[in-house]
Amino acid sequence: MKKIIVFGSGDGSNFEAIINYFINKDVEFICVSDKKEAFILERAAKFGIKAFYVPYSETYDFLKDKECDFVVLAGYMRILPKEVLELHTFINIHPSLLPKYKGKDAIKKAYENKEKITGVTVHYVSEEIDSGEIILQSSLIIENNMKLEELEEKIHEIEHYIYPKVIDYLLFTTDIGSLVNLTAEF
Ligand code: GRF
Repeated sequence: MKKIIVFGSGDGSNFEAIINYFINKDVEFICVSDKKEAFILERAAKFGIKAFYVPYSETYDFLKDKECDFVVLAGYMRILPKEVLELHTFINIHPSLLPKYKGKDAIKKAYENKEKITGVTVHYVSEEIDSGEIILQSSLIIENNMKLEELEEKIHEIEHYIYPKVIDYLLFTTDIGSLVNLTAEF
């Protein structure tokens, strides 16, 4: 049985997309949040998935004896230290074409900077924020007259589509072609 630990601090819409994608597959999930009130914990409860509130300072102790294939960050708003990152492989999703617009408010920054193209990046996590090796990027044209809200919606739509598929790829596939085809769909 494959095991994934998902970390989030907020809404958890990516988490829900991942859970829906894997609903009939042999993958066990655990959900972790550093925020007691985060909606991601409620989403986990709705699906009957084990969920834990783990304060940031307790992350190492929580993870040190947990087994998993890798850890998925989905809106986790903290930078994890080396000692934690050494415990497992971590991946993250970021709403820009990295290395552009690292950190917070990436969609808004790309929009306000009048970029013609932006997108989504799935990458391995390193000690430096939004800087680990890129696994997949999917781009999107910012049409003239597009409102910021519309761009945000499209970015999230792409995230919800690609993140589960990248996880599927990392868990079950060695065929790089499956990821190439995935980028071609947007
Ligand atoms: C997403 O836009 C993701 O790219 C970023 O944080 C947001 C999380 O959204 N890292 P949600 O909590 O999955 O709804």
